[in-house]
Amino acid sequence: MSPQQAVAAVVVLAAGQGTRMRSATPKVLHELGGRSMLGHVLAAAAPLGAGTTLVVVGSGRETVEQHLAAVAPGARTVLQEQQLGSGHAARVAVDAVPDLEGPVLVVNGDAPLLTAGTLESLVAAHTAAGSVFTVLTAEVDDPTGLGRIVRDGRGAPRAIVEERDATAEQRALREVNAGVYVADAGTLRRVLAGLATDNAQGEQYLTDALAPLVDGGAPVAAVRAADPTDVLGCNDRVELAARRRTLNDRVLDALMRAGVTVVDPATTWVDVTVDVAPDALLEPGVQLRGTTAVAAGAVVGPDTTLTDCTVEEGARVVRSHCEGAVVGPRASVGPFSYLRPGTRLAAGTKVGAFVETKNVQVGEGSKVPHLSYVGDATIGRGANIGAATVFVNYDGVAKHHTTIGDEVRVGSDTMLVAPVTVGDGAYTAAGSVITQDVPPGAMGVARARQRNVAGWVRRRRPGTAAARAAEAAGHEGAEAADTGADASE
Ligand code: UD1
Ligand code: CA
Repeated sequence: MSPQQAVAAVVVLAAGQGTRMRSATPKVLHELGGRSMLGHVLAAAAPLGAGTTLVVVGSGRETVEQHLAAVAPGARTVLQEQQLGSGHAARVAVDAVPDLEGPVLVVNGDAPLLTAGTLESLVAAHTAAGSVFTVLTAEVDDPTGLGRIVRDGRGAPRAIVEERDATAEQRALREVNAGVYVADAGTLRRVLAGLATDNAQGEQYLTDALAPLVDGGAPVAAVRAADPTDVLGCNDRVELAARRRTLNDRVLDALMRAGVTVVDPATTWVDVTVDVAPDALLEPGVQLRGTTAVAAGAVVGPDTTLTDCTVEEGARVVRSHCEGAVVGPRASVGPFSYLRPGTRLAAGTKVGAFVETKNVQVGEGSKVPHLSYVGDATIGRGANIGAATVFVNYDGVAKHHTTIGDEVRVGSDTMLVAPVTVGDGAYTAAGSVITQDVPPGAMGVARARQRNVAGWVRRRRPGTAAARAAEAAGHEGAEAADTGADASE
């Protein structure tokens, strides 16, 4: 153990099945606030700087191992073949590292609200007391289902009693076991080896480690958490929803105190991994997920979901769904836009209603205001993409790129069949199907000429409201030649 390490090892108990979740997903992998429960526990323990992090896996071990490889590659897994109880799980872990010495943090994998501060104070209290086994506790209003802390007449911890094994008098105690312990490695190894299974569940309880140590006269301690919400576990989906709400409240409180306006905390959900700068404004119904970052002066919402997005200074994203997109300074997105991964909107751009974008760079000041699909494209500066334009990027087999130059005007309802380039300053005529490059400054026209068949309504729709309207307009009998003039030329 090096001097900057608060503990020699962290052991996370994560082998239990989590029956009460009624889920095919292992309990500790259920998510809240952008991380798995296990991820939250590991994040809280990380600042302790332990040289070794062990995660005891069992139920759903392959899934848990895959998850750990992604989120905590430094953690080592230890297999508990049979789930014989939390004491047995801790024993499997310490036995896996026979030369482990010094203080070890043992923590339940289903305690997602734990904070680094709470763990650091627990370790500090353990060290200051010269204890060999210290348990974190909390005073709660409703202790139902939790282990109770039994203290002697002088207030020293005497035992931890599981609810199922508790007397009526013990059940009335409101100080509970958080499922977080610091123990000397050697002591832990010895006491866990002697655990019995004479309890209501026939399991080896980690909580049964305390009483024999007290009996043997070893120094033990029970330390109350400053904030009882830190220690709340999560055994079913009702508790998961409650923990998620608490976590979200913490995130939003911290943002508001740092200068972010959150109009409606009840409907705003922000992952712990998100960054929001002071003077950003979150309207009601906003979800910010993953690596999303929102800069100062940006306005997000109402009713907007951003996953792994960057929203730069002064930008606005209204009623939109965005993933993996960068919204540049003062850009405007929405209402009802769908930005998909690889969307890069430069400063002052606009993406409007019912526009979907994917893998596209939109240059400074360019606009895609209405009803368009823009995929696999580069758009220059100051361009305008007319309503209902489609970047036809897929030929059924492969995706192709479209390049639009600076100051281009793409007419409404243009199909840009990729690969294709529209040069700087060029136009396309509304309704065109552009399959060939349009040189700079040219007008690309690719549509049938219009023909007007004079008197058609009088002949083919006599007696209709249209015919009467035409008659009133004085054109009912006009026999002028059909016209083929094209207004765009
Ligand atoms: C446990 C404590 C209880 C405490 C509560 C706090 C015990 C016996 N009881 O109860 O005193 O108040 O946490 O939330 O420890 N696990 C394994 N292998 C096993 C069994 C469990 O790895 O064989 C893991 C679980 O995945 C879980 C942790 O140990 O992360 C605790 O197990 P759980 O069944 O959730 O215990 P609780 O009944 O909540
Ligand atoms: Ca539990």
